[in-house]
Amino acid sequence: MTHQTLPTTPFSGQRPGTSGLRKKVTVFQQPHYLENFVQALFDVLHGNDQPATGLTLVLGGDGRFHNRSAVQTILRMAAARGYARVLVGQGGILSTPAVSAVIRRHGASGGIVLSASHNPGGPDGDFGIKYNSANGGPAPEKLTEAVYARTQTLQHIATSDSADIALDTLGPQRLEDTVVEVIDPVADHAALLRELFDFDAIRALFARGFRLRFDAMWAVGGPYAKAILEGELGAPAGTVVHAEPLEDFGGLHPDPNPAYADDLIAHLIGPDAPDMGAATDGDADRNMVLGRGFLVSPSDSLAVLAAHATQVPGYRAGLAGVARSMPTSTAVDRVAKALGMPCYETPTGWKFFGNLLDAGQVTLCGEESYGTGSSHVREKDGLWAVLFWLNLVAVTGQSVEDLVRGLWREHGRCVYSRHDYDGIATEQAHTLMAELRAQLPTLAGQTFDGHGLSPGRPKTDSAPSGGSEPRAAGSVGAMTIAWADDFAYTDPVDGSLSQQQGVRVVLEDSSRVVFRLSGTGTEGATLRVYLERHEPDASRHDLPAQEALAPLIDLAQALARITHHTGMHTPTVIT
Ligand code: G1P
Ligand code: ZN
Repeated sequence: MTHQTLPTTPFSGQRPGTSGLRKKVTVFQQPHYLENFVQALFDVLHGNDQPATGLTLVLGGDGRFHNRSAVQTILRMAAARGYARVLVGQGGILSTPAVSAVIRRHGASGGIVLSASHNPGGPDGDFGIKYNSANGGPAPEKLTEAVYARTQTLQHIATSDSADIALDTLGPQRLEDTVVEVIDPVADHAALLRELFDFDAIRALFARGFRLRFDAMWAVGGPYAKAILEGELGAPAGTVVHAEPLEDFGGLHPDPNPAYADDLIAHLIGPDAPDMGAATDGDADRNMVLGRGFLVSPSDSLAVLAAHATQVPGYRAGLAGVARSMPTSTAVDRVAKALGMPCYETPTGWKFFGNLLDAGQVTLCGEESYGTGSSHVREKDGLWAVLFWLNLVAVTGQSVEDLVRGLWREHGRCVYSRHDYDGIATEQAHTLMAELRAQLPTLAGQTFDGHGLSPGRPKTDSAPSGGSEPRAAGSVGAMTIAWADDFAYTDPVDGSLSQQQGVRVVLEDSSRVVFRLSGTGTEGATLRVYLERHEPDASRHDLPAQEALAPLIDLAQALARITHHTGMHTPTVIT
């Protein structure tokens, strides 16, 4: 059992994206690919070739293919680096929110999560690695950029030739001078959730016969949901389905949204449907919540939780503020305004919430991409969101649908949808965005008549605030662009500036279209088009979103010439 220093050469393309470094499994399987990245990470964290004396590292992943082997590789490198202790989840398993909880509860210096989140797994699927800092949150851009720079120059890796750790045996083991402690992946996270929610009220809800279907999508959320919902809260056995984490997620896409959670949605329809449905993604940080025959949009979910937070023990004292990613709907802004609390708008990606949470400026935050969370950890947290909803249903006596309709009645409905165009050639995607950006200076004041944009105001009285007859859904009165920009964000806590975070086109009636390229994909590029329109009129709250948003969808085509650039006539995924 000795240290080894092995020569290596840089790989190109090891720049972390929105949420860590994600590549095909086959890319990660190349000799030294993972080692190079981890070496660069340790070099940036501790100084080139400097030891991590006295420090504790947390390590675990979502159980996807390559997880176990990557865990062993990283354990050997952590030992070679001189970490005092590594806390690793049993079987190499830890959900993303659990890593965050474990880091915080054990005072670790940071943690490594092995996951490609909701991306498919298996030998032909994706793998990923991300680093979370001592606050439990995703490494800031400054750090990930430094790691990337280091991957381009490093020449050797430090590891050890010691034998594998027995990952299934709980308790401490030794790897060189490092204590590797195999921990129960659920215990710390469960303890934290117990502190926040009224478990007695939820237990009573299930005892009254309330039925939940929780779809863990064959991913890492399963063991957590089973232990807490069935084990502790008395939900009947079988409440949690697809609960066993599989290396290939059963060949499915572990992404809880209307496109990939179709099985769950089908189960929530009909007279015999359960009262509530829920799902979590590959690493259990995302969540989807449904009522009987009723989908809750993630933006509305955040707004409902914010509106009722004081009914839940952990938030009894009120919220310091809320934050949402820029493309997320403005529903939570309306709640925040009514409650007199600040609402922050950040770029896409959970890492941008970290400073606000650390500084105590916000308590809840969320993204339209099925992510919701709070100051209890520094990640979004799928099971947390589901327990929050259960707690609200239990103490208000309202159904999931009632709670959302209450939000709409009070604040109007922010009708919302996201259209994804997957697998675009990278160059074409960049051309599309460049063309959009080039138009920005001239867009304000332009009018869209359903076919094209023209400068100047419409001659008709169809501007939305004109007091004329409301236009029929799907028809286009002339729509005038109020302003457009490329979102830039100055972090209010540390002053750091993030530019080019998405092109926003906002109309005079506050409807908007947002365009950005995904930073989490592993093949080609994905264009995301976010559409939002506020509907104050309750008699129109049941219009299907795609219908209500049709004029904006046409505007998005006209602005970005999506079909021209991509050859695609319809989105790959609509959420
Ligand atoms: C996507 C979502 C974003 C989320 C991230 C990680 O990133 O849009 O909200 O934080 O996954 O779950 P994107 O692929 O858009 O860069
Ligand atoms: Zn995830």
